[in-house]
Amino acid sequence: MTVSRPFLKWPGGKFRLVERISKALGPGQRLIEPFVGSAAVFLNTDYDHYLLADSNPDLINLYQTLHEEGESFIDYVRQFFQPETNNAETYYALREDFNSTRDIRHKAALFIYLNRHCYNGLCRYNKSGGFNSPFGRYKQPQLPEQAILAFIEKSQRATFQLSSFTETMQAAEAGDVVYCDPPYMPLSKTANFTSYSAEGFGMEQQAELARLAKELASQGVHVAISNHDTGEIRNLYKGARITRFEVPRFISQDIHNRNTARELLAVFKPS
Ligand SMILES: C[S@@+](CC[C@H](N)C(=O)[O-])C[C@H]1O[C@@H](n2cnc3c(N)ncnc32)[C@H](O)[C@@H]1O
Repeated sequence: MTVSRPFLKWPGGKFRLVERISKALGPGQRLIEPFVGSAAVFLNTDYDHYLLADSNPDLINLYQTLHEEGESFIDYVRQFFQPETNNAETYYALREDFNSTRDIRHKAALFIYLNRHCYNGLCRYNKSGGFNSPFGRYKQPQLPEQAILAFIEKSQRATFQLSSFTETMQAAEAGDVVYCDPPYMPLSKTANFTSYSAEGFGMEQQAELARLAKELASQGVHVAISNHDTGEIRNLYKGARITRFEVPRFISQDIHNRNTARELLAVFKPS
């Protein structure tokens, strides 16, 4: 299988696992992703329709802009991928511009710039919702034009929605397939390195997600969820078919600090 790489760098992105994930998703006409992130699963599956949602407004604004405007948006973004825009001073000025602008098209373009120029593609916000990832010091960040074009083409089959997972899952109907890739349960209390939005995702949300998955399965919806393989998660996913695997984990740029993490994929079959 040739895997299409998403155009955004996204912590927890699933493009290395799409082959396994797509096998665990049942047949159906519509795939719903309540935690779409960089959209790796959308790009590498073949459903007639997609409902793609996330609670990150900058991400959904970007996807909607691409969906509505198409290719000409790439020309607008290109101005931010020049040798003169790849230095700390310009990065912090454009980050400030991103945080203050009310022009949603400009904001969408700057989101791609920040994603490619910030440290490790980290999408981090401060308490007041301002994007605050530091400058990444890359030699020559590239505008991923081909990957953006592939996204635009496929987005014709998709509807994008800014919503929390509870609202998105309520839209599922019998026959739909739902793939959930939530912020993972930390492996230990201090192991939670990534932060996706100003709001956290704690035990209460993990439990609510598991409850909704069971409820949807009982209404004829096929639901799959990725997560870390911990005792607490297995407890929440009781009754699901669980596949477990080891995944390489890069927690820093330090080559000695690479490890594997135990992940699982839980499938709640429709009944
Ligand atoms: C692990 S990432 C998804 C990665 C995605 N599968 C990919 O391949 O890039 C988790 C996503 O959940 C989103 N998120 C966090 N809390 C959420 C919530 N309460 N409702 C919906 N989305 C949420 C984050 O913005 C982030 O994009």
